[in-house]
Amino acid sequence: MRISHSTSDGEKFEHDIPQFGLGVFLMSEEGECKKSVLTALEAGYTHIDTARAYNNEHEVGEAIKESGMDRESLFITTKLRRGHATGFDEVIEHCQKSLELLDTDYIDLYLVHAPPENSEHRAPVWKGMEYCLEQGWVKSIGVSNYGPTHLEAMRSYATYMPSVNQVEFNPWLQRPHLFKATEDAGAKVMAYSPLARGHKVDDPELVAIAEKIGCTPAQVAIKFCYDSGCITIPKSSRTERIVENIASLDVDISSEMEAIKALECDYVSGWDPTTEP
Ligand SMILES: NC(=O)c1ccc[n+]([C@@H]2O[C@H](COP(=O)([O-])OP(=O)(O)OC[C@H]3O[C@@H](n4cnc5c(N)ncnc54)[C@H](OP(=O)(O)O)[C@@H]3O)[C@@H](O)[C@H]2O)c1
Repeated sequence: MRISHSTSDGEKFEHDIPQFGLGVFLMSEEGECKKSVLTALEAGYTHIDTARAYNNEHEVGEAIKESGMDRESLFITTKLRRGHATGFDEVIEHCQKSLELLDTDYIDLYLVHAPPENSEHRAPVWKGMEYCLEQGWVKSIGVSNYGPTHLEAMRSYATYMPSVNQVEFNPWLQRPHLFKATEDAGAKVMAYSPLARGHKVDDPELVAIAEKIGCTPAQVAIKFCYDSGCITIPKSSRTERIVENIASLDVDISSEMEAIKALECDYVSGWDPTTEP
């Protein structure tokens, strides 16, 4: 998938992003993240979604080195921690720190993890992100957990609009309004918690749909996000699930699309800063 930044002069800093990847949130045991990333790379994943807040950027970096794969064949997303999103200089400092922890020359996609709590910090933080982009430290920049109001406000201070808005999206939380606002900003939706953090994989309606299709319930949810046009990043630390999840890409859910859409119930599995002022 192609991502880019809308500017008053057209699209800038175009970059290819693998539409499927591994999320590494809640891999807090030492070595868990490194092992999961190595398993995923072996299974064919080419995109890893980490964050400073997950405390495992260093393990992502170690796994990439140990895999022996070319850096250019892989895509790394990481995020500026919300508590660090306080000003221009702080962004520069923490971007450099993430580069060091990941042990890489560049980050493919750098996201503001959530709208800075102090709204006066939002413009200088984004200016810092744009500086990182112009320096080549990061190949693309974006936001996460930004709602329509946050995105709209960016038009007044952004030179480069975000390439991506990473938000919770899954069959139980389809967010048409937020989806449209993201696309209107020129950004792609990146679906986090595609399995609603695992809360919904045993949902009897989902299980019935999976049986009709002939795949697993998790594969239905993941492929739904993917076929809806989202960059999709399920998390698992278990080898068999890491393999099962990427195999979703070969599953055809088209005959059950309406039934999957009907699972919508406005269910937020984690946090939702998109509605904050
Ligand atoms: N920007 C943000 O604010 C934000 C917030 C949340 C998440 N994220 C990102 O999005 C990624 C994914 O979201 P998430 O980790 O919240 O949740 P998720 O991917 O929706 O679900 C992960 C949970 O589902 C289980 N699971 C995975 N594959 C499964 C399968 N095939 N069958 C049954 N259960 C399965 C996992 O357990 P096992 O590990 O034991 O398999 C884990 O408990 C994160 O890792 C992170 O990178 C970003």
